[in-house]
Amino acid sequence: MQGRYAAEYSAAQSDPNGYWGKQAGRVVWSKPYERVLDDSNPPFYRWYAGAETNTCYNALDRHVEAGHGERLALIYDSPVTNTIKRFSYAELRDSVAKLAGALRGLGVQKGDRVIIYMSMAPEAVMAMLACARIGAVHSVVFGGFAPRELATRIDDAKPVLIIASSCGLEPGRVVEYKPLLDQAIEIAAHKPKACLIHQRPMYIAPMIAGRDHDFAASLAAAQPAECVAVAATDPLYVLYTSGTTGIPKGVVRQNGGHMVALDWSMEHVYGVKPGEVFWAASDVGWVVGHSYIVYAPLIHGSTSLLYEGKPVGTPDAGAYWRVIEQHKVVALFTAPTAFRAIKKEDPKAELLKKYDLSQFRALFLAGERADPDTVHWAEDILGKPVIDHWWQTETGWPVSANFMGLELLPVKHGSATCAVPGYDVQVLDDDGHPVAKPGDIGNIAIKLPLPPGCLPTLWNNDEGFKKSYLARFPGYYNTGDAGFIDADGYIYIMSRTDDIINVAGHRLSTGGMEEVLASHPDVAECAVVGAADTLKGQVPLGFVVLKAGVTKPEEQILRELVALVREKIGPVAAFKQAVIVKRLPKTRSGKILRGTMQKIADAQEFRMPATIEDPVILTEIEAALKPVGYAKKA
Ligand code: COA
Ligand code: AMP
Repeated sequence: MQGRYAAEYSAAQSDPNGYWGKQAGRVVWSKPYERVLDDSNPPFYRWYAGAETNTCYNALDRHVEAGHGERLALIYDSPVTNTIKRFSYAELRDSVAKLAGALRGLGVQKGDRVIIYMSMAPEAVMAMLACARIGAVHSVVFGGFAPRELATRIDDAKPVLIIASSCGLEPGRVVEYKPLLDQAIEIAAHKPKACLIHQRPMYIAPMIAGRDHDFAASLAAAQPAECVAVAATDPLYVLYTSGTTGIPKGVVRQNGGHMVALDWSMEHVYGVKPGEVFWAASDVGWVVGHSYIVYAPLIHGSTSLLYEGKPVGTPDAGAYWRVIEQHKVVALFTAPTAFRAIKKEDPKAELLKKYDLSQFRALFLAGERADPDTVHWAEDILGKPVIDHWWQTETGWPVSANFMGLELLPVKHGSATCAVPGYDVQVLDDDGHPVAKPGDIGNIAIKLPLPPGCLPTLWNNDEGFKKSYLARFPGYYNTGDAGFIDADGYIYIMSRTDDIINVAGHRLSTGGMEEVLASHPDVAECAVVGAADTLKGQVPLGFVVLKAGVTKPEEQILRELVALVREKIGPVAAFKQAVIVKRLPKTRSGKILRGTMQKIADAQEFRMPATIEDPVILTEIEAALKPVGYAKKA
């Protein structure tokens, strides 16, 4: 390959210190770095060691100081509450400074953790930035998670304060967050000193005297706080993500490298300029929300759009087009599932004809595999580049992408395009050797060191970091994804190598769901797999073997299992279907053949596992699945 992309990639590859040293100029530092990459303690690498900075300063204050105080920083568009609000950089800075003062008043110090359990209102963005301002480490927990999941995160992060919304809004229902928060604190061993509650008018939550404080009143009474200098290598946030068991992993993001990487990506990947409107249609609870609703657009001086609604039903499948036109969005980032939802409701995109999208330049898709059908459909209706790019909570920014601001590489449908400069992506066989030739499927791994912005470790868990990501292939970060790279360097992400499934772009662990099913008193054994779904990409599908002597009607047990996963993990798990089987298929050594079960559910061809204990069980599995709509050829 030749051209601007190739030149940039090889510059980052041949001289990482020189390349990222130059990129550091994108950010204001209160103290310059001593070393670009500190590689003195492998496998723990640190970017911009010795430097000091503040992420909130770079996201807000510096733009105001540069004379852009009147520029729009944030547009809040909420069809579910029928609200549109706009915040200039100066307004957002002032609110964040006061909120930061309020946090201080509640005893939050530099380095303390603050959990944020909030719905998609501007106050959530302010809460994150206010933590960054005073050097506190935020940990946002997605609102669709149940109290037990929140409690696990409280016990791991040990926050001094939790900032929560009274409620969130899902189409047709108000989700009361505050009672979920109260339950979570009750379950957790660690108790925060205080809670700051943002009362939304749809549900005014009862407060616990002495512990709970009102967000609006605290903000009004507070004195603004200045930005404090933190080390480039100090944590900005911890974001928990599904791991290979039910226990979530606390992905750490450090201040310095994160800002540099995000700003680089705004320019080169998304091709967005300061002052232009960028929209990541995600949730602040996910990494996409952290990086591309909150930090990247603001660090870059662009305008970020915060959308509290869905692609369909709020009010119709033209919602995205309405938002793009009304706010002059130049680039949209969402999950393929959103486009599948729009396509299902409005296959000919009739609603699009009502809107003028002339200023719109590109659609970016990530979070799950972008199926070529959906990509073709989006390209046809929009007539603009549709870019599939691949990344993870752990990396915080794209590992592979196409480059609106650098060079638009030819599109290959089904591929998440090419490695982003800074990432040395390779395909390894199970013994850790590079696969024999381009196109061979294997484990996708990234040669260490990872570029700036990626996780340096897991929260309070260096050993877990090594075990989860580095142990399998020494010298590499194991992404947990499988796929191949073709002869032109295009990366194809095909599946996970662990138990993670992607449901509507949300990352979930089937192991976590199995733990919940196994806790039901009538269940002897169980397995959960990700079955293909035309809307959500994948949905969890449970298989349970009941204990001998259970007399309860099977229908009732199945209902209880669905309710139990919703109660323990949350509605976001979207666990709606389980089947009861006599036995689970296993290898002779006792390993459950989940992959084979998934193939049967999806009616795909599969090779009979050589070590299977009893092949007849597969016929039983198929028979159990057919009545509920699975295991049927299209
Ligand atoms: N708080 C509480 N509950 C929530 C929630 C939140 N923040 N977010 C989702 N839920 C609930 C939903 O209401 C739903 O509940 P239900 O079982 O009672 O219907 C459940 O969790 C599953 O949600 P979801 O998987 O989002 O399914 P959906 O049917 O509500 O919507 C889509 C499907 C495709 C429209 C939606 O997933 C979507 O817009 N996705 C694209 C954008 C995106 O989320 N990207 C994420 C990563 S980039
Ligand atoms: P998350 O950490 O929630 O962002 O989920 C990351 C996982 O989502 C990746 O490891 C992949 O399995 C999957 N994923 C993200 N983007 C893509 C993509 N463009 N194509 C295929 N899978 C993707």
